[in-house]
Amino acid sequence: MTLQLRVYVPEHPLIKHWLSVARDVNTPSVLFKSAMAQLGRWLAYEATRNWLPTVDTMVQTPLTQCPGTFVNPEMPIGIVPILRAGLVLLEEVQKVLPIAAVYHLGLARNESSLKPSCYLNKLPESFDPQTRIMILEPMLATGGSIMMAMKEVTNRGVQPDLVRIVSVVAAPPALRQLSENYPGLEIYTAIIDEGLNSKGYIVPGLGDAGDRAFGT
Ligand code: URA
Repeated sequence: MTLQLRVYVPEHPLIKHWLSVARDVNTPSVLFKSAMAQLGRWLAYEATRNWLPTVDTMVQTPLTQCPGTFVNPEMPIGIVPILRAGLVLLEEVQKVLPIAAVYHLGLARNESSLKPSCYLNKLPESFDPQTRIMILEPMLATGGSIMMAMKEVTNRGVQPDLVRIVSVVAAPPALRQLSENYPGLEIYTAIIDEGLNSKGYIVPGLGDAGDRAFGT
């Protein structure tokens, strides 16, 4: 069986609504931030569907016994928000995955070379190979940051097919690189846009997600 990158764009009115709010240049920072957080919540919900490990057991209700299914607390789950903009998704993603550990990764993009550099890395030295990792990167543009994040995570023992990427807007250059290097990976995004401008911004996109969310 040959593995292939899968990109899911969930067809949901709430995802369309919050994406349109986030895209609108007239949306104020505070509303932009909450629109992105909502997108984080619904996309993470979709991303966990066939990914969260569960255990089946019996539950005693006030009336009788019946079968029950719980998220397996023994399987490690981690969230890796890529700073800054990934923090905005984290707000609501943590409500979907309250038991997950959060490993912050700070990557800054050099505006002329468009290459990322790492200024903060809270990943452990190694992960249990069963660890499921959800990476939060709202803008998959040139692919520089997400490729660096994937390398940092997989070099520490995480299997690429246990990684889920939650993004808001994805563009072909990033998807191409991920597909060439990590077949088997799954991405959840609100939309796939046409491409990038000469400065590496996604078009039509939503602008600089970090600047808009933090009012800078
Ligand atoms: N990062 C952003 O915040 N926006 C883009 O369009 C591309 C990268």
